[in-house]
Amino acid sequence: MTHKHDHLPTQLILAAIFVLAFAGCKTPAGEKYTDWKVYGGSSANIKYSALSQIDTGNVSKLAIAWVYRAEHGDSTRFGAIETNAIIIDSVLYGVSPKMKLFALDAATGKEKWVFDPADSLQNKKWHRSSVNMNRGVAYWQEGDDRRILFTVGPIAFAVDAGTGKLVPGFGEEGGVNLAKGLGRAEEKMSITPTSPVMVYKNLFIVSGLAGDETPGHIRAFDVKTGKQQWIFHTIPWPGEPGYETWEDTTAYKHMGSTNSWSGFSLDEDRGILFAGTGNPSNDFYGGQRRGDGLYGNCVLAINASTGKLIWHYQIVRHDVWDMDLPTPPILVTLNRNGKKIDAVAQTTKTGYTYVFDRENGQPLFPIEERPAPTLSPLPDEKLSPTQPFPVQPRPFARQSITVSDLNPFVPDTARIRKRFLATRYEGIYTPPTTEGTLIFPGYDGGGEWGGPSFDPVTQMLYVNGNEMAWILNIVENKPGTLSFNNKLEAGKSLYNLHCMGCHGPERFGSGDYPSLLGVEKRITPAAFNELLSTGRRMMPGFNHLGAEEKEAIASFILDIRPEQTKKYKGKVTVQPSNNKSSFGFTGYNKFLTDEGYPAISPPWGTLSAIDLNTGEYRWQIPFGEYEALKEKGIPTTGRENYGAPVVTAGGLLFVAATTDRKFRAINKRTGEILFETDLPASGVATPSVYAVHGRQFVVIACGGFKAGGQQGDAYVAFTIP
Ligand code: HEC
Repeated sequence: MTHKHDHLPTQLILAAIFVLAFAGCKTPAGEKYTDWKVYGGSSANIKYSALSQIDTGNVSKLAIAWVYRAEHGDSTRFGAIETNAIIIDSVLYGVSPKMKLFALDAATGKEKWVFDPADSLQNKKWHRSSVNMNRGVAYWQEGDDRRILFTVGPIAFAVDAGTGKLVPGFGEEGGVNLAKGLGRAEEKMSITPTSPVMVYKNLFIVSGLAGDETPGHIRAFDVKTGKQQWIFHTIPWPGEPGYETWEDTTAYKHMGSTNSWSGFSLDEDRGILFAGTGNPSNDFYGGQRRGDGLYGNCVLAINASTGKLIWHYQIVRHDVWDMDLPTPPILVTLNRNGKKIDAVAQTTKTGYTYVFDRENGQPLFPIEERPAPTLSPLPDEKLSPTQPFPVQPRPFARQSITVSDLNPFVPDTARIRKRFLATRYEGIYTPPTTEGTLIFPGYDGGGEWGGPSFDPVTQMLYVNGNEMAWILNIVENKPGTLSFNNKLEAGKSLYNLHCMGCHGPERFGSGDYPSLLGVEKRITPAAFNELLSTGRRMMPGFNHLGAEEKEAIASFILDIRPEQTKKYKGKVTVQPSNNKSSFGFTGYNKFLTDEGYPAISPPWGTLSAIDLNTGEYRWQIPFGEYEALKEKGIPTTGRENYGAPVVTAGGLLFVAATTDRKFRAINKRTGEILFETDLPASGVATPSVYAVHGRQFVVIACGGFKAGGQQGDAYVAFTIP
């Protein structure tokens, strides 16, 4: 059934057939999928391009068209770039690792203007968020008024698309402070959109990363004035449906998160906004938030004009595993018995694909309620006795591992075997414990924030996934002291207590605060110790910490392996906040071998093609590789990956995503890799596909950073010379 080597003529014929097929199927009004004006390619968020100049026959000739260094060679203090750039009238809009918005000539990469929000933020004393990262921006136009909507920390800016200057009259002097209008004390709110807002008519719609005390309500604002227009309470208020799913009747006043951090998709014709939400706070203990907790971990369909809920489906009840829906559901159309059905497809961190009728939320493949473990050792915890599992499509990530699924390539399997057997593990819904619970396929999926892509012509869904085991250890936050098994654990806790606020939960820093990933290459243990004692510029000194505390932090930050296993005898003092409750955790710990590979057997990353009409797999490949293992003759293992593939009418998937720094073009019908090249740093982002003056380009942001990778600031565009 598959065409191994397509050539140009076949391609042209196919393209013609596609165009004809296209004319008959219901697509959003005027949507041709030939530009990239919206994050994810279109408001359907399907990462599809109808451009076919680059195809399976000529992709081997793909070459770099231009490279733009968004920090102009400054290589010191980067955050991540996970940005999917948008292109409007031959101008590309993207975000730098230090959160500057820029505009480029999309054909040459030549800079047109740069907007640095740091100036505006400092001028207005708007507080800066510790999480500073951006997956992209949104565009709105009315006549000559052309705006880029750009968020930094809690501030939404409207920037003139032509000049790069703040638009006067929008919000307070160019910005809207999203900490206001949530129905709680503004100064306590921590809200940071990391995905772009969605534009619908004259509204922009936003949620974002939301702190433990901040509700992740979904809100619409007027694009012209910045005034709030509607709010959908993701934690319902008294009298609203879903309020009864919380045992704590005051949850709506203090509960946080329950947010939609991965952005939205939009059915423009029907005026329906779609979102996927994350869990209520805190992530791993639910004794203080008993009940199913709507609208946590839900697919939501919301009236985009009014904010009224149309339907919802809860994917995980009472989540205590950080199983946020990592992507909005994307808009798809299926063929069923000769009938076209408009639907949405939601991929999950657990590796499932849920497909619902777009208008009423009816599942289009059967979903089964299956029993889930309920025996939690934590006081007051009450886990859901069942959880919903789709029968089809089958999951794109393994659902369980056994002691015979450990990494076979490393010499010391005894240690990892022992560690594995010491964890509690009963599948994806294993209750969190203080002794260690195995989390698999992992906090980062299964599916992640890139989300799937979809070919509206063939109804094929393409999704990349991770298979990484993590170990979750719950600790009791007794106000007072904590003890640890070793220096690594103590170091992580001390980091969370003293350093995380500036350097971020994943150590990738933010605007003013450097990333600490790979810092061991720049700084000796002696210099580190000195820095902790004295501080430097905006970094305070930590002289009040004892020598053993400093050593513990150093073992963690500088990755000093022999130190990490040493016993830690000191104490760590903790002050639990409201929703942090009485239980916390020791950090996001991957289950790795001493060599740093996943401690389980491959595949560690996959890319799959699923026929959404039938739910059957067309193909699945291990995705990404480790050079060192390849040299030993080990077949491709797959590797952690973040960011989606783009599927094109040229028969291709364009994808970077893997932490091996590769950019690849893959035959969408077979999974065969047709083109592969090295990027300056890993492209943990989704490419954008566009054309200027009749020439097709594909561009990828190469920010690196993920999984300890090298950092970067390059946007690399490819074309056929
Ligand atoms: C109030 C914010 C803040 C806190 C809290 C903070 N740092 Fe920093 N840190 C900074 C800033 C700002 C710099 C850059 C200093 C400069 O300008 O040279 C920095 C620099 C560093 C560097 C040097 C990075 C490099 O690339 O050279 C290290 C290492 C570091 N911090 C570790 C820590 C540790 C460990 C802690 C917790 C014990 C911590 N920091 C707490 C703000 C902070």
